[in-house]
Amino acid sequence: MSKTNNAAQPVHIERVRKVFGDFVAVHELSLDIEAGEFVTFLGPSGCGKSTTLKMIAGLLPQDSGEIRFGKKRIDMLPPNKRNIGLVFQNYALFPHMSVAENVAFGLRMRGWSRGDQARRVEELLTLVRLDGLGERKPEQLSGGQQQRVAVARALAFNPDLVLLDEPLSNLDAKLREQVRLDLRDIQRKAAQTTIFVTHDQVEALVMSDRIVLMNKGSVEQVGTPYELYATPTTEFGARFVGANNLISGEFDDSSGHWGVRVAGLDRVLPVTTRGPGIERSGAPVWFCVRPEHVAIQTGASSPDTGLTATVKDKIYQGTTILVDIEVAGLGLMRVERPASELGNLPLGIPVSVFFDHSHIVTR
Ligand SMILES: Nc1ncnc2c1ncn2[C@@H]1O[C@H](COP(=O)(O)OP(=O)(O)OP(=O)(O)O)[C@@H](O)[C@H]1O
Ligand SMILES: [Mg+2]
Repeated sequence: MSKTNNAAQPVHIERVRKVFGDFVAVHELSLDIEAGEFVTFLGPSGCGKSTTLKMIAGLLPQDSGEIRFGKKRIDMLPPNKRNIGLVFQNYALFPHMSVAENVAFGLRMRGWSRGDQARRVEELLTLVRLDGLGERKPEQLSGGQQQRVAVARALAFNPDLVLLDEPLSNLDAKLREQVRLDLRDIQRKAAQTTIFVTHDQVEALVMSDRIVLMNKGSVEQVGTPYELYATPTTEFGARFVGANNLISGEFDDSSGHWGVRVAGLDRVLPVTTRGPGIERSGAPVWFCVRPEHVAIQTGASSPDTGLTATVKDKIYQGTTILVDIEVAGLGLMRVERPASELGNLPLGIPVSVFFDHSHIVTR
């Protein structure tokens, strides 16, 4: 097999656990990643994303569990024998080496011939769109270009797995958006199995084949970006991914349709999709409506939902406008619509409220 031949590996993580003193940082975490897949660990600060990554990289020993690349068990191997490419937030380039030398670093360590090194460096610099910049020093590059060199360096030796821990967090917002898409394209072209870590849900939605949503050292939900957004399985997921209006109520399917009964409201709210574990009428649930799924119309309450609201506040965002409304019987809700639709809406007026789509999760 040629050295530039990419043989992506599936990754199997089985019941991996990490304890610091009496604090369980990672509960028994299991996950299967397909060869060439881009998987993102998403979760709030301190939920165990980096700890999990460090165990996979071998920088931190796990207390129990197994990690395999294909059929090969790797969790007993030292970090340099695991064949993993790493990019960390502060994993700086070697400042005294040129861009090309940085990218070739792992190849040199692995004893590649000079000719093979040169060809591979060329290939990688093209992949990350830095052709012709091989002789520059890192300080002569922009932040985004430096990040791409770090990615090229991590991909160069055809690792079985690429680990990226918040690699974009040092970049300003505009550059971050651009490098995010670059990184996604690079990963697709290289087709190397990748785990990306972020606490930024937009980043996760934009980049991933699948997202692993983590909370307090455990996996909360695994799914495609669309699945996580459209059908969260838990309250945490409903709150963490995207904006959501959550209303406490009780499941009611006595009419043959899914609905939610809310205290203080004389009718049942219609439900479109439901998370797992909600079967019987009376089950405590959160009724979830995304801001873009709330529609409002000026005038008295509609016969459809019977819901009336007062416009409290408007936040103009350019493309869309956020409107906060006080709904009788439900409380404050947020609406997001195209600015052209609601830009002229006066404050304080009564509006009727409709839901385009709603979802429930267990309370
Ligand atoms: N060496 C350590 N000793 C003790 N506790 C630790 C150690 N490393 C991490 N922790 C704790 O384990 C938990 C998980 O940490 P981890 O670094 O994995 O979080 P994270 O999800 O990567 O968060 P962030 O988004 O802030 O990077 C945190 O509560 C952290 O304080
Ligand atoms: Mg971290």
